[in-house]
Amino acid sequence: MYYPDEIVEDVIRQNNIVDIISPYVQLKKSGANYFGLCPFHNEKSPSFSVSESKQMFYCFGCGEGGNALTFLMKYENASFQVALTRLAERAGITLPAVQYSDDARKAEEVRKRLLAVNKETAVYYYRLLRSEKGSRARAYLKSRQLGAETVRNFGIGFADGASNDLIRHLKEAGFEDEEILNAGVAAFDEKRGLHDKFWNRVIFPIQDATGRVIGFGGRVMGDGKPKYLNSPETPVFDKSRNLYGLQLARRSRKGWFILCEGYMDVISMHQNGFPEAVASLGTSFTEGQAALIRRYVKEVLLAYDSDEAGTKAALRAASICKKSGLKCRIIRLEPYKDPDEFIKQLGREEFEKRIRDAGDMFLFEISREQKNYRMDDPASRTEFYRYTARRLCEFTDELERDNYIKAIAGRYFIKEEALRKLTDSYAGAGYGGGENETATAAKMPGRERKYSSDQGSGRKDRSRLENERLLISMICDRPDLYKHISGYLSADDFTDGITRIAADRVFSLAPGAGNEPVLASVIIGMFDTEDEQKEAARLFQGKWEDFVGDRDERTAVNELAANVKKSAVEELGFMAESDPSLLFKLIEEKKKLEELQKVSL
Ligand code: UTP
Ligand code: MN
Repeated sequence: MYYPDEIVEDVIRQNNIVDIISPYVQLKKSGANYFGLCPFHNEKSPSFSVSESKQMFYCFGCGEGGNALTFLMKYENASFQVALTRLAERAGITLPAVQYSDDARKAEEVRKRLLAVNKETAVYYYRLLRSEKGSRARAYLKSRQLGAETVRNFGIGFADGASNDLIRHLKEAGFEDEEILNAGVAAFDEKRGLHDKFWNRVIFPIQDATGRVIGFGGRVMGDGKPKYLNSPETPVFDKSRNLYGLQLARRSRKGWFILCEGYMDVISMHQNGFPEAVASLGTSFTEGQAALIRRYVKEVLLAYDSDEAGTKAALRAASICKKSGLKCRIIRLEPYKDPDEFIKQLGREEFEKRIRDAGDMFLFEISREQKNYRMDDPASRTEFYRYTARRLCEFTDELERDNYIKAIAGRYFIKEEALRKLTDSYAGAGYGGGENETATAAKMPGRERKYSSDQGSGRKDRSRLENERLLISMICDRPDLYKHISGYLSADDFTDGITRIAADRVFSLAPGAGNEPVLASVIIGMFDTEDEQKEAARLFQGKWEDFVGDRDERTAVNELAANVKKSAVEELGFMAESDPSLLFKLIEEKKKLEELQKVSL
């Protein structure tokens, strides 16, 4: 887990960030940088920039930024370890054997044991289903029309009603009580002691993307409560970051996933030729799951139950998908309740049709809302038009908005031109935003969130930070200039936090860099957390070339340094008023400032 900085640096240096990002984002060169649509927020015009010279990316819309490693971690939802290994392999660098800390190694050991318990449990239940004892469960599965191949593919099993036979089996296989309990296949209470969790249920093992069994869902055969009993979360079972059926769906090649609500929906879809179906795990759909999907496909078709609760859940899931950059459409299952029932009644071809007709989420929401109005009543109808016009303001892209205006006008017999005018009038009054907040913010001049870190920290003066950023960028790109300012300025002169640390690193690397730029990506990589890296990435967005203009660089760097120093001296002067011990330092620092200013004159 802990690699020496030099190795990480080497891996970053040996990969060109443009090559790393290109497969994921369509990049176009514009000036010195590449631009594309940001994969981390929903946008219509490109504000995602990649700099080849700095080896970093930065989004002017949402502020995401970092180096190649950060990108892979974010985009692929990958751990540091996984992302680093991938980049290292790409560059032909052999990483030293992983050195886990003691705690990490112990945790890894525990996880391994839990996975082993799960595996043994799955095998046990699987065999039981096929034994004499499993005849009732086999009959149940048959009544649900599941074929032998499907039962095998999903590893379905059976937990019988005999007392604690699983625990006995696991102990014979060498597992400890504690491990059995922690894996969640047994429970403990005063009366019964350690006892099997699942009794007389059909068992659906839940696997992660790589096929390891991480938990179980157990269904009663017939009616009974609860219908499903699920394993609790354990160190290997994170319900918010896994999906039922993913181990199979990830190999389907349709370009989308079908997201269902239930285990049975997924199983039934797979059996009927839709291996791209997945479901969340008895909890509502999460951002973690959306990010997981995003690793495999760009679009989600929602096939949630058609009742009110299902529709509400679908709308929620849709908004999560959208936030994660997933396209989203909704499959109508009416008059049936869920995908399982639909496909049993109408079959595969009809479902294919529903996929083709799967509508856009926006139109779906509008049609849902429409039910609240009486279209034969002029006043009510007008209200509906107003609602629609307000909602249309969400689309900041003119072409897209126009397409929706056309679609809605056609559907609800409104004059296109009238709806357009109405929409424009609402847009003029400042409507818009809502769901598309980030896209809107990124587009509207003056609302750009370029340096959002400044906002809310009123003490820091924008121009001071600006100067600091420009200077850091400039010295990074032109370390040879550092010698002109090094005697007068240090990292201590920078405002605190990330900026100061970054300055310190740049200043310590600059003298040895010769004429080679100090890579921004390397500086960014020295920060540990994603947030810090993002913050650091912002520092390198300063366009120092513009600051230099047609002056010579030496003069410019001195002026910049003088600006930074001036703010620091002012701050020091202010503090010295209440702390006389600082006066001597103040005099010293003032002298340095004057010298800097002399040179830049
Ligand atoms: P459903 O009740 O729609 O189940 O719940 P289903 O998968 O369609 O099953 P059948 O067709 O009725 O047999 C949807 C999902 O909600 C979770 C399960 O993940 C289920 O698949 N759930 C439901 C529970 O965790 N516990 C319950 O008691 C009910
Ligand atoms: Mn269902």
